[in-house]
Order: sequence, then C-alpha cells, then structure tokens
Amino acid sequence: MTRPLIIAVDGPAASGKGTIAARLAHHYGLPYLDTGLLYRAVGLSLQDANLSLDDAVAAEAVARALKVDGLHDVERLTDRGAGEAASRVAGHPGVRDALLDLQQAFARQAGGAVLDGRDIGTVIAPDAAAKLFVMATPEVRARRRWLQLTARGEDIPFEDMLADIIRRDERDAGRGAAPMIQAGDAVLLDTTEMGIETAFDAARRIVEAARVRHGL
Ligand code: CDP
Repeated sequence: MTRPLIIAVDGPAASGKGTIAARLAHHYGLPYLDTGLLYRAVGLSLQDANLSLDDAVAAEAVARALKVDGLHDVERLTDRGAGEAASRVAGHPGVRDALLDLQQAFARQAGGAVLDGRDIGTVIAPDAAAKLFVMATPEVRARRRWLQLTARGEDIPFEDMLADIIRRDERDAGRGAAPMIQAGDAVLLDTTEMGIETAFDAARRIVEAARVRHGL
C-alpha cells in the first residue's frame, strides 16, 4: 500500500507557514488543517464565557467539545487577541491531549493531508513523509503580521507587535507540553528574505525531494 502524503509544516508566528501550507495543499489537492485555529477557538470560547485562560480544567472541557468543522468565524479567530489567548491555553497539557485525536484523524486521511502548527512533525504526525520548519527573523515576522492586521483595521504600534511575537516565541518554545521545536528530520526553510512565490517554490522542492525519498 502506498504511504499517504502527509505534509507537516511547523514554525513560529507569522513565519509564512500558513500561506505555504495552504499553497501546498492546493498544489497537491490535499485537505488542509490550520491547527492554530483549534487553539484560538479554545481561547476565544473561554473568554466568551468569562473564564480564565489559566483554568486548565475548563480549557480542556472546551477543547474536548471542539470539532474541525466548527471553526467558522475565521476573521475573529485570526485577530490579535485570539492569537495571544491561543498561546496561553496551548500550554495546558490537557488541552493538547484533547485536540490530539482530532488532529491525528485529519492527518491520517487515506489520501494524505497538510497540517500546520507547532508540533505537527514532532507529536501529531511524527511519521509525516514531508516535514518543514518555517522560520524568519522576529522583526520580519512582526512586520508581516503588523501589515496583515493593520490592513484589516486593527490599530497596533509596530513595537507592540514585535513584543507580541517575541513573547509568543518564548511561550511556545519554553512550555513543557509539546514545545515548538524543529523535528530532527524536518527541513528548515528560512523565509526572511523570501516573498510568497519564492517561499512556496522552495517548500514545493522540499516536498518533491521527500516524495522521491519515500517513493510517493
Ligand atoms: O498564525 P500564528 O502563527 O500567529 O498563530 P497560530 O498558528 O494560529 O497559533 C496560535 C497559537 O496556538 C500559537 O502561538 C501556539 O501557542 C498555539 N499552537 C500550538 O501550540 N500548537 C499548534 N499545533 C498550533 C498552534
């Protein structure tokens, strides 16, 4: 039986991983899951219910009730506050455990899948055929995210955006449960000097090399 083409795209905030993952999914005709939306949805649900983001028991209960097809309000899920809330609830081991099965079920669809996040290549799909770790300098990532959010009308000083990105990096890489780390067999893609087309092209070549290696 041919091994399914699972593509794992990990990396820090605004590194370009979401754009690359979506483009790869389109290119290979695979379903795509932005796993950050799951953590964002958990964070927002807690806030909407006036519960603390530090309440690990409530956060886990919300995560257990979440469905992949319940992530509708993408505009709200991708705003600045939701990103911050996501990175806080993502540190609860119970939340990560609650979201594990659903992510693994998505990854293991018969034809393959593309997932992006922080722990796809390490925890969710360690057997993925292609693994990318996408990064860029904090300054470049802060600028990308600032452009994205200000274009949508969010009013944020650039310095605050940069502080957000650095704080989020520290929290994601420093947590005990599934910290953000490059998998040993992931290929590093530094997009600091790359536009979208160049980054996608580099990513596609990494996946092609993996396909050849695995005979896919
Ligand atoms: O788009 P951006 O990189 O800013 O954020 P995201 O990918 O939507 O993730 C938001 C937050 O969720 C991250 O800062 C992580 O703390 C958390 N996350 C995670 O822990 N594991 C994942 N697989 C995906 C996101």
